[in-house]
Amino acid sequence: MTDSDAGTTGALDSAFRADVLRGLQSHPRAIPARWLYDHAGSGLFEDITDLPEYYPTRTERRLLESHCPEVAEIAGTGHAVVEFGSGSSVKTPILLRAVKPAVYVPIDISGEFLRESNAVLAKDFPDLDIAPVEADFMHPVEMPEAAQKLPRIGFFPGSTIGNMVPRTGVDLLRRMRENLGEGALLLIGMDRVKDEEILVPAYDDSAGVTADFNLNLIDRINREVGGDMPREKFRPRAVWNASHSRIEMHIEALEPVDFTVGGERFHMEAGETIHTENSHKFAPRDQRLLLRAAGWEPIREWTDEKGWFSLILAEATPQRFAP
Ligand code: AVI
Repeated sequence: MTDSDAGTTGALDSAFRADVLRGLQSHPRAIPARWLYDHAGSGLFEDITDLPEYYPTRTERRLLESHCPEVAEIAGTGHAVVEFGSGSSVKTPILLRAVKPAVYVPIDISGEFLRESNAVLAKDFPDLDIAPVEADFMHPVEMPEAAQKLPRIGFFPGSTIGNMVPRTGVDLLRRMRENLGEGALLLIGMDRVKDEEILVPAYDDSAGVTADFNLNLIDRINREVGGDMPREKFRPRAVWNASHSRIEMHIEALEPVDFTVGGERFHMEAGETIHTENSHKFAPRDQRLLLRAAGWEPIREWTDEKGWFSLILAEATPQRFAP
C-alpha cells in the first residue's frame, strides 16, 4: 500500500499534517508508519527488499515457491484469491500460478497503485479475471460480483502484520475474516524472532538505504507540511525492544535542535527520538495466538531451514459454542 495519492487528495494532506503535528507534540514523539510510504518511500522500500541484510523478502519468496503447490492441493479449484494490499510483482504470481484462481481480487486504498500493479499482472496472466477493489481493508469491503459466490483465499504476505501493534493486528485479522467469510483460507507471512545480530542490521543496512527510507520522512514533512527540520541533525536508529519483541525505528536528534513545522515551533534534545515504525517478530506460539485471537485456525505452518520466517495457511473456522 502507499499513500502516494496524498499530494492530490486534500483529505490525505490534512490527515498527514494532523498526524505530524500531533506526533511531534506528543511524548514520546511518534508518527504513524504509513506516512513513510510516499512515492519516494515506497521506492526506497522496494530497494530495501533487495538488500543482503534484509532476509524477509527472499526467504518468504522461497517459501512461496516451495509450498504454494500444497496450498493449491488443500484449497482445490474455483477460488477467488483476495490480496490485502496491491500485489507484489514477485510474490503474487507465485501464488496465482499454483492456485489458478477463477478470479483475483486485489484490495488497496490507493487506486493508482492498484492500476499500476494490475497492468503488470495482466500482461503475465492474460486470461486471469482481475477484479480490483479500491478500499481500506480495515473496514467492511463488498466483494466484486465475480467473487461473490466463490470460496476465498486471502493473501497477506511480507509480515506486514508485524508493522501493527498486536491489538491493531487482531482487529485487522478479524476484519479479514469478516470480509472473506467463514470457511475461507488465509495465507499469511510472519517474520520470526531471531538473534538481535541478524535483526538489527536488517533495519540498519550497511548501504544506508533504510536510513534514507526514514530520513525521507523529514523531507516529506518539510515539503508537505511546511517545515525547516534540518535532516543533517538527525540520524535513524534501529532498536530491538525485547519486551515487545519488535524492531523499532526511530529518528534521533544528534544535538539540541530547534525547528518549525506547520507554523509550530519545536525543540528536541540530543538523543531524543521520533518513533517511526515497529516491526514485530513472532515466536511460533505468538503467531498461532494472534491468528486464533481473530478466529483463524492455522492448518499448515512452513518455515525455512533457519526458522527465520513463517508462511502460514489458516482457516476461518466457525466459532465453537463450548470448549
Ligand atoms: C513493510 N514491512 C513488512 C517492512 C518490515 O520489515 O517491517 C517495513 C520495513 N521498514 C524498514 N525496513 C523494512
